[in-house]
Amino acid sequence: MVDDIPLHSDAPIGVMDSGIGGLSVLREIRQLLPAESLLYVADSAHLPYGDKSPAFVRQRVTRIAESLSAMGAKALVVACNTATAAAVESLRERFALPVIGMEPGVKPAVLSSKRRVVGILATEGMVRSNRMRELVARFAHEVEVVIQPCPGLVEQVERHALHTPETARLLRGYLAPIVAREADTLVLGCTHYPFLQPLIEQLLGPSVTVINTGGAIARHLKSRLEADGLLNGSATPGTVRFFSSGEETVQQALIGRLWGEVVAVAPLPEGADDV
Ligand code: DGL
Repeated sequence: MVDDIPLHSDAPIGVMDSGIGGLSVLREIRQLLPAESLLYVADSAHLPYGDKSPAFVRQRVTRIAESLSAMGAKALVVACNTATAAAVESLRERFALPVIGMEPGVKPAVLSSKRRVVGILATEGMVRSNRMRELVARFAHEVEVVIQPCPGLVEQVERHALHTPETARLLRGYLAPIVAREADTLVLGCTHYPFLQPLIEQLLGPSVTVINTGGAIARHLKSRLEADGLLNGSATPGTVRFFSSGEETVQQALIGRLWGEVVAVAPLPEGADDV
């Protein structure tokens, strides 16, 4: 067990993703828990995680978790469905701090679907994972589930191509089997996809409900911190710091655009970038 030292409520929360997708979770955390200081790591030099082996993703996520823990994080949020599927159990074995993972919102989707047909968009790695199989077996045995891998979509978000003809073309193709089955509920099974939600909703029309679990993860984080006596009760807003393994100026511009303010982006701490 790494870093079995006392944790403090004023310590920061570490949040990680393969790239900028986890910002869709970070913004929910910021909104719900403004007093918390946040450390965000984008592993941009190694994305997409969705086409890598689970062993590779586990190795990257472990390195990043080690550096977040060394920076004093009191909790870790794996703001990536693919990384959660590959690594959350080993992180929980290795680290004493609370580890919060993501999973596609299959359960709320099943509750919401009247037609009993649910679509899921996810990365290839997530689609292949045991976690996806288990989720569907557990929550969706009485509904039809159309699971669609979406290679290339993460890269479009990373280019900030949120409304381009190429992104619309890719999405139309990925949504076609889901539309053909007349699903009335769609799960965004990757944290990059909420940035495409306006385009997805435009393509699907109002009859399909889109489910994104970012808000639920922030609420889960809050109750876990409360239960562990780690919630920051300060009235002063916390700080947000960004780190990326990608090219600094590119990341600075991209993260600033999605975060909605000018940000500084630092390189990953020494050691965290070794593959
Ligand atoms: N945001 C990650 C997820 O939720 C994207 C993974 C990738 O880099 O392919 O799955």
